[in-house]
Amino acid sequence: MAGLINNLLILLLVFQNTCLGFKNPLSVFKRYKDTTRSLSSECLGNNRPVISLGLTDFALDIRMPGVTPKQSDTYLCMSLRLPVDEEAYVVDFRPQASMDTVHHMLLFGCNVPSSTENYWDCDEGICTDKSNILYAWARNAPPTRLPKGVGFKVGGETGSKYFVLQVHYGDVSAFRDKHKDCSGVTLHLTHQRQPLIAGMYLMMSVNTVIPPGEKVVDADIACHYQKYPMHLFAYRVHTHRLGKVVSGYRVRNGQWTLIGRQSPQLPQAFYPVEHPVDISFGDTLAARCVFTGEGRTTETHIGGTASDEMCNFYIMYYMEAKHAVSYMTCTQNINPDMFRNIPQEANIPIPVKSDMIMMTHGHHHEDFHIEEAVDWPGVNLKLGQVSGLALDPKNNLVIFHRGDHVWDRNSFDSSFVYQQRGLGPIEQNTILVIDPSNAEVLDSTGKNLFYLPHGLSIDKDGNYWVTDVALHQVFKLGVHDKEPLLILGRSLQPGSDKNHFCQPTDVAVDPVTGNIYVSDGYCNSRIVVFSPNGMFIMQWGEETSVGKAKPGQFRIPHSLTLVPEFGQLCVADRENGRIQCFRSETGEFTREIKHKLFGRELFAVSYIPGGLLFAVNGMPYPGDIEPVQGFMMNFSTGEIMDTFIPVRKNFEMPHDVVASEDKTVYVGDVHAKTVWKFTSTEKMEHRSVKKAGIEVQEIKAETVIEAKLKNKPVSTESPKKWEKHHMVEQASPGISFVLITTLLIIPIVVLLAIAVFIRWRKTRVYGADADHKLESSSGRILGRLQGKGSGGLNLGNFFASHKSYSRKGFDRLSTEGSDQEKDEDDGTDSEEEYSAPPPPPVSSSS
Ligand SMILES: *[C@@H]1O[C@H](CO)[C@@H](O)[C@H](O)[C@H]1NC(C)=O
Repeated sequence: MAGLINNLLILLLVFQNTCLGFKNPLSVFKRYKDTTRSLSSECLGNNRPVISLGLTDFALDIRMPGVTPKQSDTYLCMSLRLPVDEEAYVVDFRPQASMDTVHHMLLFGCNVPSSTENYWDCDEGICTDKSNILYAWARNAPPTRLPKGVGFKVGGETGSKYFVLQVHYGDVSAFRDKHKDCSGVTLHLTHQRQPLIAGMYLMMSVNTVIPPGEKVVDADIACHYQKYPMHLFAYRVHTHRLGKVVSGYRVRNGQWTLIGRQSPQLPQAFYPVEHPVDISFGDTLAARCVFTGEGRTTETHIGGTASDEMCNFYIMYYMEAKHAVSYMTCTQNINPDMFRNIPQEANIPIPVKSDMIMMTHGHHHEDFHIEEAVDWPGVNLKLGQVSGLALDPKNNLVIFHRGDHVWDRNSFDSSFVYQQRGLGPIEQNTILVIDPSNAEVLDSTGKNLFYLPHGLSIDKDGNYWVTDVALHQVFKLGVHDKEPLLILGRSLQPGSDKNHFCQPTDVAVDPVTGNIYVSDGYCNSRIVVFSPNGMFIMQWGEETSVGKAKPGQFRIPHSLTLVPEFGQLCVADRENGRIQCFRSETGEFTREIKHKLFGRELFAVSYIPGGLLFAVNGMPYPGDIEPVQGFMMNFSTGEIMDTFIPVRKNFEMPHDVVASEDKTVYVGDVHAKTVWKFTSTEKMEHRSVKKAGIEVQEIKAETVIEAKLKNKPVSTESPKKWEKHHMVEQASPGISFVLITTLLIIPIVVLLAIAVFIRWRKTRVYGADADHKLESSSGRILGRLQGKGSGGLNLGNFFASHKSYSRKGFDRLSTEGSDQEKDEDDGTDSEEEYSAPPPPPVSSSS
């Protein structure tokens, strides 16, 4: 009854507060009493986010500040700080969503929102620390309600000083009148200790493999429950595209009791547990995800990208406050045999009506899925550092590589003058023409011309255009004899005028005008345009100022692609981690494409007619989670449509990407010295969870998986492993006070990331390199996860790339992994591209 009264009170206040000119009587709010906001007058919300509800209670009105989303499937985020420093309990949620435009809303708790803006595009991220899901609302799904007496702990040491609201605006045709939206959620909080504390039990599969074409694949998870009783009241399922149905059960004395069963293709909200289920010591919790491998041409593994799968079953529960645990996980299957008795319903997919689908509104995206062509022999070509790729008019792949030269710390002095002329030009052929089907070398050229090859492109007539960062020059090589027809820049002289470049990176040639665009470069920050015969026309671009990079500023313009259909030139602005596009005729800035998933570096771009843009990013920095991978984007919207990584070998420093109209994609890697071929599998599919918020959130979950897997193949218990194990244990429920007070999802991520990182560092210091060679099945999965670079494990090349490496002495092993050396190196020119860790003595390649 009291709860009902409170709820009514909230509603009353929400709608009347403005008129009443409410003054906050509570001293705890003094500091915040001036917190007003300017909601659009069109919105129904009040203009004070904090509303006192008596001595101990208050309402928090978390609303979009009057937004007008411009395109469908826009995800907007906003944050609100908890107005008190001490702990409080969320005891009720009230959605305030306009049903005609809002597709779903998620509310997270965290300490550091990704932006300080009024509101932001959620592609920039939700939180920079871990974010805990508190609440989910989806159209067509029942709202999450907390049972009476149950509260989520927030504030204090719980890791949730801020609330971040994510609103997915689906169909925006209702915004044609440019009205403003203030959708959100009103929370009822109290300082009064609650007798019951809410928490989250996460069940997830870590080792499921879905063979291509396999009709039905089950992922089963089961754990014994050995804690104080908990009462389940809501559940949420999560898979990516291949999931058909997910079901969770309590198993007691051989009896299966349903907790919840749902299609992961429906809105992934928390659904109420229909018939209350309690769990006591000795019960087993069991969950099954049913997948299909149909439509895939390669194995699908558990992982964080949209082309991987996940199998998660989240259970919201409450416990008595004195025993409460806020977070528990189950990633095992303690009794596979048991699943022979799983109720038949768990195997029956739930039909999904198209208007209920999670991400799309009845209209389907035609979906191209990019996968490695695993029988293409090109990955075995003997190459030096692969710096540039292009397709010739016959659609043959052309590779520009560095033979036995490498770019390292000794290559240049501090004024960018090349120091290794004594080596002479590369004696091998640096340009190879490759048959796209069987990877045979059809032709080779470009010996005794170059010192440090970088960019390659091919004009419509078949001329090769290349850059050499040591020579600071751009070359046009003729179709027939491949002799230089045009040379721009002065040999070995860095500079930044009309006749000099400074480590130019790439060239693009306009098919209509014949104008030549040069991205210049590592030590300049400009795009220079020349007429077809090499006369300077214009230039634009400047160095990036301190703070946020502005339009037209560069930090290593690294790769170019022309977008003839739109009259634009797009630039991979490498160290700013973004793509910038300009009107190719005028150099006028048109747009920026930047996603949280890019991480900090974006190496290369390639456009194909039909509106698709491909890109590759850089290795994650320590602590970052965005994996190194390839991206396929819709050029018009900038939206990421797919991500891809190879199956064979790993991306180390993917340096160039090129795609053909049939969506065949090639990626060249300067460290792995490899070229991969990817092809597209086209099919109609519903895109499930792909958006930054949810994706990032759930990628973080993987860190848990990695850590667990890393603990598994322990043969000899080393002290390092112990330390790690210990940290994981600490993070598990019931031990750490901080965690007890933490809310829902994945509170151990931060600890684990540190632990994983520490362990990785140690592994490097002690010279063990087993991470990459585990043969056990869990090792293989680990490998895949590492391949995606999710978490701190996949940083080898980042550090390697920052360690000095003398080409003449391959004996620097003793210093590998030393902190001092890394720190010294970090000092000056960290933006350069260095070589890989010392290879075995380089024999001549190809
Ligand atoms: C890009 O998005 C727009 C708007 O949703 C759509 O009309 C277009 O077909 C998409 N392009 C591709 C290549 O998918």
